[in-house]
Amino acid sequence: MPEHPAYPVGLRLTGRRTVVLGAGQVAQRRLPALLAAGADVLLISPSATPSVEAMAERGELRWERRRYAAGDLVDAWYALIATSDPEANAAASEEGERERVWCVRADDAEAASALTPATGRGAGVSVAVLSAELHDRDPRHTAAVRDAIVEGLRDGSVVARQYRSRTPGVALVGGGPGDPELITVRGRRLLAEADVVIADRLGPRDLLDELPPHVEVIDAAKIPYGRFMAQEAINNALIEHAKAGKAVVRLKGGDPFVFGRGMEEAQALAAAGISCTVVPGISSTISVPSAAGIPVTHRGVAHEFTVVSGHVAPDDERSLVDWKALAALRGTLVVLMGVDKIDRIAATLVDHGKPADTPVALVQEGTTATQRRVDATLATVADVVRTEQVKPPAVIVIGPVVRVGPDTLP
Ligand SMILES: C[S@@+](CC[C@H](N)C(=O)[O-])C[C@H]1O[C@@H](n2cnc3c(N)ncnc32)[C@H](O)[C@@H]1O
Repeated sequence: MPEHPAYPVGLRLTGRRTVVLGAGQVAQRRLPALLAAGADVLLISPSATPSVEAMAERGELRWERRRYAAGDLVDAWYALIATSDPEANAAASEEGERERVWCVRADDAEAASALTPATGRGAGVSVAVLSAELHDRDPRHTAAVRDAIVEGLRDGSVVARQYRSRTPGVALVGGGPGDPELITVRGRRLLAEADVVIADRLGPRDLLDELPPHVEVIDAAKIPYGRFMAQEAINNALIEHAKAGKAVVRLKGGDPFVFGRGMEEAQALAAAGISCTVVPGISSTISVPSAAGIPVTHRGVAHEFTVVSGHVAPDDERSLVDWKALAALRGTLVVLMGVDKIDRIAATLVDHGKPADTPVALVQEGTTATQRRVDATLATVADVVRTEQVKPPAVIVIGPVVRVGPDTLP
């Protein structure tokens, strides 16, 4: 018979008898996908790996503890032949041929009637890759092609527009602290599918350079706001573009709901009847200290961390922060937007009883190429910020965790 390439197809196995012969590593790897497809799995094998056994115990499949016997494939739609006995595999394969049951074989793929592709999922599609030549199969190559496609779809480097199910309306995407690799997979994909991106100053701005030329990128800081407040002008821009049928991404630094006014934007969109998807992001509150080697908690040192905004000074009547209570806490204090007010913040904490020698670290432009860390104490931090010229954006960490590092003994 002349050699033809395999014909790719998607099997709908829900509720359909699928026989798996053998319960070793091959079955263990393939069973989750069969179960995810809803297959009615009958497993025939005298023994099984612990994870396959657990599937049987959970009732996900039916397990008959015995060897293959003629007739096992009679009611099957599909079979995976993966026993350690080549004769049993060949006999089952012949039975499959007679009964017209598509069979894959772990020991001799070429002798089987079906082949298992390298599979993966991403961006709402299943990807299945088969070698073009039956006799020249290279499973590592097909797996590598699958990985490249799935990763590309996830991180947006393979841009495949969705036409029927593009996310309508606006996506509020948390972009992470700045390093373009610290955005989520979903955020990156939505960015790649956007028609309009309204971006903040903070966040992964490098990603904007990678967008295709037709994407309109709007700098949120530069939206003219005339008699409107800046936030209202941003809300209006989001609404206007979404109403024009565009896929809009509002790209924000860190997480949209951590001092990001994300909910105000979501409320404005709801009031305008526009759907809004929120994509969480890695907040600078934890990631920036972490990137500078500071754990916000550490066993035996800090069992809590508190995040506060320092954008208004402690003695400002608009402040909602209870600085006295914070001074009494033993854990870690993480202050955002606090560089300009650090002298009054430090003085207030000391006035309320926090030791003046409490360690402080300021991490400026964390996770970016220009990240720098400056250390001080509550007593010295005001001077240090001036002499070292620390500028926003910076995350300020106050507490003993600042002195914990890979070399400190437990
Ligand atoms: C308006 S808040 C937004 C916070 C953001 N939504 C988040 O979850 O990280 C801005 C403040 O976050 C902090 N910040 C954000 N990104 C930073 C970075 N890469 N390095 C240092 N601080 C950062 C600074 O304190 C900055 O003033």
